[in-house]
Amino acid sequence: MFQPKMPSLEPVQTWTRDSWRQYEAEQQPAFDDKKQLAEVVEELNSKPPLVTPWEIDRLKGQIAQASIGNRFLLQGGDCAELFSECRPDIIANRLKVLLQMSLVLVYGLRMPVIRVGRFAGQYAKPRSSDTEENNGEIFPSYRGDIVNAPEFGRQARRPAPERMIKAYEYSAISLNYIRALGEGGFADLNHPENWDLGFVEHDELRREYQGIVDSILEALKFMQAVSSNPIGDIDRVSFYTSHEALLLPYEEAFTRQSEHSSKAYNLSTHFPWIGKRTNQIDGAHIEYIRGIQNPIGIKIGSGMTPETLIPLLDRVNANHEAGKISLITRFGAKHIEKGLRPLIKAVQTSGHTVLWTCDPMHGNTEVVGNDVKTRRYENILSELEQAFDIHADCGSILGGVHLELTGENVTECIGGARGLKEADLSRAYQSEVDPRLNGEQALELAFAIVRKQRAMRQEASV
Ligand code: PEP
Ligand code: CO
Repeated sequence: MFQPKMPSLEPVQTWTRDSWRQYEAEQQPAFDDKKQLAEVVEELNSKPPLVTPWEIDRLKGQIAQASIGNRFLLQGGDCAELFSECRPDIIANRLKVLLQMSLVLVYGLRMPVIRVGRFAGQYAKPRSSDTEENNGEIFPSYRGDIVNAPEFGRQARRPAPERMIKAYEYSAISLNYIRALGEGGFADLNHPENWDLGFVEHDELRREYQGIVDSILEALKFMQAVSSNPIGDIDRVSFYTSHEALLLPYEEAFTRQSEHSSKAYNLSTHFPWIGKRTNQIDGAHIEYIRGIQNPIGIKIGSGMTPETLIPLLDRVNANHEAGKISLITRFGAKHIEKGLRPLIKAVQTSGHTVLWTCDPMHGNTEVVGNDVKTRRYENILSELEQAFDIHADCGSILGGVHLELTGENVTECIGGARGLKEADLSRAYQSEVDPRLNGEQALELAFAIVRKQRAMRQEASV
């Protein structure tokens, strides 16, 4: 049986929103103007927050339910949002794909779905190298629009603190529109015109989806006919926001004391996560995240061992608070079988309850042709299906999925119902960082999740 070793760490210090500054922070830009950085953080600190503690607490309660199998978490959106893509069509299309996927999941899994967007703040990116070389010139790597600009040039790539203010503004504008769409009936199931499949050209997918929409509308009509109460939760859907809590001065500026409980919340997003490259137990990101009330995601993949994971959970969730931690696994289709099982067993033995979710994107990135990053639909699906099987086999629950997707008709991932090929990639490749599923591929994956779950239930019942 796995026995966690005591971590060789200093005694845990008192947490404050800036105690992370005493630790080593990976993946931070080299800002040359420290005075300007401090001024920007101070200015952001005086700005209204984007979300509220009540919303965050509600999400944490829902994640606690997902961790015991009573809900399913759908988290998806861009790898990196761009300031230039803060546009109504792009925001609405992405929302639409997430809504449609969630409709398929609610119906197929017969459980409520928690919808979390990688949006309204997903502007900071970790990079494998601090610099990029091109034609003999070397400039800092692009670290997301909150830090610098993607164009290759001295000025564009200079880490500019004032971009944090822009990131806050674009996040607020995006979130305002998302909330307005939600409130204004965009997501109302009684308006089937909003559920149409403009982007799906594959007939079978379209038929299968239309069947689901029709059955749900029938059920709604029936419920409205037999009940005088408004259906509430069923005809109004809510979205939560998430982003990688990478750029710590920004996260610090939005970490505020709640008036009702005097506890600290990160009010720039509902659900911050820590990436695979910044999850070190003795690093600044883990120090920061351990003190906030938000539910948090921690990405883990190959290289993570039980000996590291359990002390990490002990540190971040010493009180074993329900709904606090989601472990987002991203091994890749080839490595999940070996990597995931020991971690699940260790968590079970440790007494921690976490929400396990699968990110089948980041372990399956490959480079083809002329340096083009892509992912194969079949590998994405394979990792996801293996994750379901491994959890079931261990008596554990896979309670969610974490995807990079867009509502635009891009050609960034290979495969799917329409069989996109390597040669198609150049047709509509738009991502600045990682390749995303397009709307059709994303919806197809939602159906595949439902099929997999149903097959597993059938197997269990014979
Ligand atoms: C991401 O989610 O875009 C990302 C960089 O993931 P990871 O930390 O798993 O590499
Ligand atoms: Co990514």
